[in-house]
Amino acid sequence: MLKTAPTRGIDRVLLDEETLRQRIKELGARISADYAGKPLLLVGILRGSIMFMGELMKSIAVDCAIDFMSLSSYAGDSTTGNVRVLLDLRGSCEGRDVLVVEDIIDTGLTLDHLLALLRTRQPRSLEVCSLLDKPSCRKVDVTAKYVGFPIADDFVVGFGLDYNERYRNLPYVGVLKRP
Ligand code: IMP
Repeated sequence: MLKTAPTRGIDRVLLDEETLRQRIKELGARISADYAGKPLLLVGILRGSIMFMGELMKSIAVDCAIDFMSLSSYAGDSTTGNVRVLLDLRGSCEGRDVLVVEDIIDTGLTLDHLLALLRTRQPRSLEVCSLLDKPSCRKVDVTAKYVGFPIADDFVVGFGLDYNERYRNLPYVGVLKRP
């Protein structure tokens, strides 16, 4: 049963708070097992990943550091395909086990660009954990090792995800109403 009421502008709740919490715990447990004994660098992609990053970190039991990057490829509800680095990492990722924490993979263009850039910095390993994945929207062949929820081709907001900077504070993931 959904415990969260939809907000104005939201067509329906797709993933409620409890569902998100449970799944993120599972992801954290898997990551903790896979990286046992290896210090991990979590790279959160701003701004969409903030809530996911916060919740995921709580469930990661291995020694980990965090850093952030900000990339831009979206305007409103469509990707421009033109990826720019707005904010870069503070630290180095050379020789480190790096896990990119993303909110959603849509066309894959942003992630493809980001992974190519991070590979040039010679991390020891480089993997991706994305809360959401829209596999039917892919324009480039890019996959995440850890995915919270594969979803259909709907524009979703909440739990960090926005539409023109709105809705990030919703505690659930909802499908945006179409005009
Ligand atoms: P991609 O380059 O098309 O894979 O887009 C990735 C970025 O676009 C994500 O990190 C989000 O910031 C944004 N994005 C893609 N789909 C959605 C959506 O349904 N809602 C909100 N943001 C989205």
